[in-house]
Amino acid sequence: MRIFLDTANLKEIQAGVEYGLVDGVTTNPTTIAKEGRPIEEQIRAICNVVDGDISAEVVSTTAREMIAEGQALARIHPNVVVKCPLIREGIKATFALSSQGIRVNVTLCFTPVQALLAAKAGAYIISPFIGRLDDIAINGMDLIRNIVKIYNNYGYPTKVLAASVRTPIHVLEAALAGAHIATMPFKVLDMLFHHPLTDKGLAAFLADYQKAFQETTVG
Ligand code: E4P
Repeated sequence: MRIFLDTANLKEIQAGVEYGLVDGVTTNPTTIAKEGRPIEEQIRAICNVVDGDISAEVVSTTAREMIAEGQALARIHPNVVVKCPLIREGIKATFALSSQGIRVNVTLCFTPVQALLAAKAGAYIISPFIGRLDDIAINGMDLIRNIVKIYNNYGYPTKVLAASVRTPIHVLEAALAGAHIATMPFKVLDMLFHHPLTDKGLAAFLADYQKAFQETTVG
């Protein structure tokens, strides 16, 4: 499973890259707005740090404008993947951009049939939002499982990207469900390392080694 960071923050992205684990980045209008720089500049800066798919989202709501915006975003860097929302106009734009060879990540997906439409329109990536479904007491992971099944049934090449990931359990379950990619905040990536027995075991190994070394030295 590929791991993407779900942030536009360069410090977090740099920290993830230092782990050697980051295969790409997803941004959205909220995360871009948080950084306070125009999207072109921020996306270019991210592309300079991560060599992988970098999703940049359109903010127009008509297909005609989304296509123009998507073409401009795609010109920033060859690794840019244009994000279009899963609305009627967004699907029209996805079809048009995909036909021009521009890769599209269809976002704000909440049902398996929406994901079917995105795949038929030629989406490179579908982004089902797990956490936001869990927030309203609907099992987000069922959505991932159903999309993976539908795409496998028909051989759609569209990649399933588990989005709105909030916890390590989301990452575990997305991997078990066969999601191709999980995008997560840096905090969640960092949490994946943690196990108290790892820390305890390492502390014991180092203490034993130090004790033996000291005894050898003294003796
Ligand atoms: C990613 O592409 C999405 O925009 C993001 O995962 C949404 O996450 P949130 O529901 O935590 O805002």
